Amino acid sequence: MNNKANKILITGGAGYIGSHVAERLINSKLKIIAFDNLSRGNRKLINKKTKFIKADVNNLRKLKKVISENNVNTVIHLGGLASVAESLIRKKKYYINNVLGTLNVIKACDKSSVKNFIYSSSCSVYGNVEGNVDEKKKPNPKSYYAYTKFKSENLIKKFSKKYKYKYIILRYFNVAGASNSGKIGEIGNKNDRLIKNLAIQYFKKNPKINIHGSNYKTKDGTCIRDYIHVSDIADIHYQCIKYLNKYSKSNIFNCGYGKGYSVLEIANILKKMKKETQINFMKKRPGDVGQVKANINKFKKTFKWKPKFNSINKILNSSIKWEKKLNHL
Ligand SMILES: NC(=O)c1ccc[n+]([C@@H]2O[C@H](COP(=O)([O-])OP(=O)(O)OC[C@H]3O[C@@H](n4cnc5c(N)ncnc54)[C@H](O)[C@@H]3O)[C@@H](O)[C@H]2O)c1
Repeated sequence: MNNKANKILITGGAGYIGSHVAERLINSKLKIIAFDNLSRGNRKLINKKTKFIKADVNNLRKLKKVISENNVNTVIHLGGLASVAESLIRKKKYYINNVLGTLNVIKACDKSSVKNFIYSSSCSVYGNVEGNVDEKKKPNPKSYYAYTKFKSENLIKKFSKKYKYKYIILRYFNVAGASNSGKIGEIGNKNDRLIKNLAIQYFKKNPKINIHGSNYKTKDGTCIRDYIHVSDIADIHYQCIKYLNKYSKSNIFNCGYGKGYSVLEIANILKKMKKETQINFMKKRPGDVGQVKANINKFKKTFKWKPKFNSINKILNSSIKWEKKLNHL
């Protein structure tokens, strides 16, 4: 890849996934500009080799200026809000940040140097599905968050021809874990994520895991999710930039490992490590779906790519290692 020609703008670049994508691309000597309003991100996650712009994606003038001054050719749009539960009570906030925010990033690509647009969508667009879902499955978003991701996907598709960019929509399944570098990981748990929570509980004297819902139509009644290590997700972005530069072709890909774990199975891993762990069963959370697992045949066929961290233990251990470090930061 011609690294000099690749200037990458990452919205949400000070967030959990954004910082891992930045680190991965910097390791391949790409130039990164992180654009983030820090509403959920953290300065500690910003790589020293990144140019950082503190601004909101709804600031079109700023976006246009940054793209043109830096001759950006690839936008990776991750900036947005990511909690299913919060989205149900703060719909307007989610509409502004996720839908209007995406529309703004799209508009900033008009008459610009941007050729490639990569978007962080979510498996939540599928809703509740049986078995491993592929990209052809008609989306059926169940939560407001999922609706904002699906709406954003459609806007990206709609304007691709007019604004002359090719896109890759990545439907991430559940992203977890932390970089081997030990420098970045998830800070805070506003999004109430299971693996992060498990890592926090690991260091408590009396660990507690709350399981929301125990009568879903799954093997043990608790929700099933497909977890993917954040460093594999980060590498997928590098593969996508290469793909877009080479083929200039728009596409949609699921990003998971194709294997589902129930919440109870994961909670029991912690219980095995820490016998005193208490598992509490709570009411179902509105917006949660029973199960979602990826069919990743399309991704594997297109990229001939192998994940490096596809084991639930690697994910958990990296998360725990990061949590230990975070407590001493
Ligand atoms: N983590 C997952 O499992 C997962 C799964 C599917 C999709 N996603 C998507 O991936 C993206 C990144 O998620 P994350 O887990 O890193 O969350 P995160 O909250 O750590 O990162 C999001 C970043 O976007 C920034 N941001 C929010 N609104 C903004 C705005 N209006 N202008 C500029 N910056 C803004 C936040 O400050 C934060 O740094 C999100 O769009 C999310 O919907 C995440």
